[in-house]
Amino acid sequence: MYIIGGTASKKVAEDLSGKIKVPMAKTITKRFPDNEFYVRILDDISNEHVILVQTTYPDPNIIEMLILQNAVKEANAKEISVVIPYFGYARQDTKFQEGEPISAKAMAHLIGLNADRVITVDPHKEHILDFFSISAYSCSAIPEIAKYLKNKKIDMILAPDKGALNRAKNASEIIECDFDYMEKTRIDGETIEIKPKKLNAENKNVAIIDDIISTGGTMAKSIQHLKKHGAKKVIVACTHGLFAGEAIKKLKSAGAIEIISTDTIQGPYSKVQISPIISPFFKNYRR
Ligand code: R5P
Repeated sequence: MYIIGGTASKKVAEDLSGKIKVPMAKTITKRFPDNEFYVRILDDISNEHVILVQTTYPDPNIIEMLILQNAVKEANAKEISVVIPYFGYARQDTKFQEGEPISAKAMAHLIGLNADRVITVDPHKEHILDFFSISAYSCSAIPEIAKYLKNKKIDMILAPDKGALNRAKNASEIIECDFDYMEKTRIDGETIEIKPKKLNAENKNVAIIDDIISTGGTMAKSIQHLKKHGAKKVIVACTHGLFAGEAIKKLKSAGAIEIISTDTIQGPYSKVQISPIISPFFKNYRR
């Protein structure tokens, strides 16, 4: 059994390798002058179970994943498990308007061509797993985020919309604090509206938890609401920190005292590791 980490998820792959005691396969990777991706697997992986770990965001990492899968297949691996820490394009999971693609379905089709099973973390909606024709599983980073928040004297967890409610509830049970939610309407990729709602936040330390922070608009609006309701300190936490454009600046100027994400997308705010939640999937496969 071997693990191969794509360039977007090398660290997660190494953490997983340490946890399940499966070696990393030796590889050479590079970019050609025109930026096309190259990989060569140096270990003999024929007849082995190979775990490939690669976030499929941004777009070049999708191609990298497909090329890696092909390299593993061509090297005659017996079984391919694909771990996708952040599954890009999951939010276009339906045709919102006629003429649109179901991007998550297209991704699932391509990735499923050279894989036996797929594991992803906090997909935007669980039903994207049904787009795969192979076994597909998800796991939640929320317990790990909650563990990280546990010593931060949090009084309340807030979900910025109903879609995030179960995650907030789950975190609040682990932290043993209150939870509440807001009602958000998305106008477009950059604009959201939050329905006015009375929040019991007076003098409280609040952590807002969502699956994704992209532009930071959702979190910034939520912070403003909490502040209006007298919140003392506000922390923002997410599984997937995309932090597009000016997101960090927006969050800081809205008053977030801490920004937390996991390492599904590696960056300066990746304070929570996902390897502990992925490793149990492979406990039956150890050498
Ligand atoms: C959408 O429903 C997601 O759960 C997030 O709330 C959303 O992707 C966050 O986007 P942004 O940071 O751009 O507001």
